[in-house]
Amino acid sequence: MIFTVAIDGPAAAGKGTVSRAVAAHFGFAHLDTGLLYRAVGAKGGDPVAAAQSLTQEDLDRGDLRTLEAGQAASRVAVIPEVRAALVAFQRSFARREGGAVLDGRDIGTVICPDAEVKLYVTASAEVRAHRRWLEVGGDEAQVLAEVIERDRRDSERAEAPLKPAVDAVLIDTSDLSIAAATRAACDIVAARLG
Ligand code: DC
Repeated sequence: MIFTVAIDGPAAAGKGTVSRAVAAHFGFAHLDTGLLYRAVGAKGGDPVAAAQSLTQEDLDRGDLRTLEAGQAASRVAVIPEVRAALVAFQRSFARREGGAVLDGRDIGTVICPDAEVKLYVTASAEVRAHRRWLEVGGDEAQVLAEVIERDRRDSERAEAPLKPAVDAVLIDTSDLSIAAATRAACDIVAARLG
């Protein structure tokens, strides 16, 4: 069975948690596409060359989850050639046998416009910054400023900007528990699977 679940949304909205839960529930493979951009940003040097030669080892580095790696990812993600180098891998992952969940910024709009299910998982900037701050610590106001900066760069870039696909179902997790957000997503996938 070929079945793609596209999950987009801004930083720290809960996409990763929801995506992993949906993948586990239905036995689908999961690809966190943000990790690809984080690995390109962390590799240093020419980002286009880095994207064209990305290896599993690059994706396995232990320092890809930091705020700095997120900012570096957001900066290289504006480069059209970087995005182009990562398209084929994401599309073939999406159409693999057995079902796939991909989370990112442009999955429902650019990578998989024909995905069987499209979700847009979001939350207020304050709620997202608070969640991120609980993970990384430091100055909460600074974390909020970084979240807002990254939202702005990801949404305003010319190439594949962050925005909901016209046919995406919106899940606002500002006032939802992880269990409730996951249940909402799984119900939508189950209904489409029939
Ligand atoms: O989801 P994340 O926080 O790991 O993503 C890091 C950055 O990578 C994000 O700020 C923008 C970029 N990104 C993107 O442009 N397109 C994607 N599909 C996924 C991430």
